[in-house]
Amino acid sequence: MTTRRDFIAASALSAAAIALTPLAACSQETPVPSASTAAPPAETPAETPFSGTLITRAIPASGEKIPVIGMGTSGSFEVGASPAERDPLREVLKRFIAAGATVIDTAPTYGSAEDVLGDLLAEAKSRARIFLATKLSGVSGRDEGLAQFNDSLRRLRTDKVELLQVHNLRDTDTQLALARELKQQGKVKYVGLTHYQEGAQAELADLMRRLKPDFVQINYSPVSRGAEKTIFPLAQDLGVAVMINRAFEDGRLFGQVKDKPVPDWAREVGADSWAQLFLKFAISQPAVTVVIPATSKPKNQTDNLKAGVGALLDEKQRAALVAALG
Ligand SMILES: NC(=O)c1ccc[n+]([C@@H]2O[C@H](COP(=O)([O-])OP(=O)(O)OC[C@H]3O[C@@H](n4cnc5c(N)ncnc54)[C@H](OP(=O)(O)O)[C@@H]3O)[C@@H](O)[C@H]2O)c1
Repeated sequence: MTTRRDFIAASALSAAAIALTPLAACSQETPVPSASTAAPPAETPAETPFSGTLITRAIPASGEKIPVIGMGTSGSFEVGASPAERDPLREVLKRFIAAGATVIDTAPTYGSAEDVLGDLLAEAKSRARIFLATKLSGVSGRDEGLAQFNDSLRRLRTDKVELLQVHNLRDTDTQLALARELKQQGKVKYVGLTHYQEGAQAELADLMRRLKPDFVQINYSPVSRGAEKTIFPLAQDLGVAVMINRAFEDGRLFGQVKDKPVPDWAREVGADSWAQLFLKFAISQPAVTVVIPATSKPKNQTDNLKAGVGALLDEKQRAALVAALG
């Protein structure tokens, strides 16, 4: 399978067209102690290690708490077996685990990502600490879905996953029924639906009402705020956990702030990078359970993890971030 670099089709919604969701402090939030406070080796003199405790949010279906910063594997984990390709990812994973983060999202259609993740987790003896999310992806019918799931287990070197999601709303009824069957068998803990484009959110909302999954995964960022309109309020009404993909618009947001200094007000929320502001923007929504930025670089992993501690953004700060990207 080739590297997935999907295309964002939806245009950015006007900030004025969307009412800001109330950002009252989330009662589900509690800090969790980090697994380690050991400082990772600095790559540059300016890099400071992660410290503190990641905020957690509860999965509505169970009350189980998960840290708000997770990670994706699309692109970033689609590598070969050479040390040059794997060593940085080994460190990306090490820093993630040391910070107490748990949620990792992958898919059988992300090239070699499941194999690489399975190998690195086995090598680090860390499978038990990870909330592993994969997908039923591009398959039609129960048999194809089941064969793909069994292959995912083999590639991930595990006998169960925490979350099995129907990818991009393809063959949704059949694949979600299969995911639920696997849940009954104890091979899957939660079931979900995913998409990555605002244009699919109306269909996703209908499916949420009809099928009531445990999780939905969707795109959300300061320039793609469609989820504020329907998905977030609906998720809160129905008790569905929300996982955010494309918080950096697949990296394009960094191009938009290139050469712009991080605003002074970032210090008020303990942030010192644009990445931390973009991630705090996502988790400032009370409906959001976890955000899954993807990186292949240890220093960026540390940067992303730092977004999960300290204060989140208030409405004024969120509006300032949207304006900075305008
Ligand atoms: N349909 C679906 O279900 C669907 C669709 C899309 C994505 N997803 C999931 O969501 C995950 C995230 O989405 P995504 O991979 O499309 O993109 P993303 O997380 O929005 O952006 C990833 C890009 O940001 C860069 N980056 C990460 N951290 C950074 C930092 N601190 N500073 C500067 N640059 C940074 C990465 O480059 P470096 O490697 O150089 O850090 C990479 O180019 C995916 O990996 C996948 O698991 C699911």
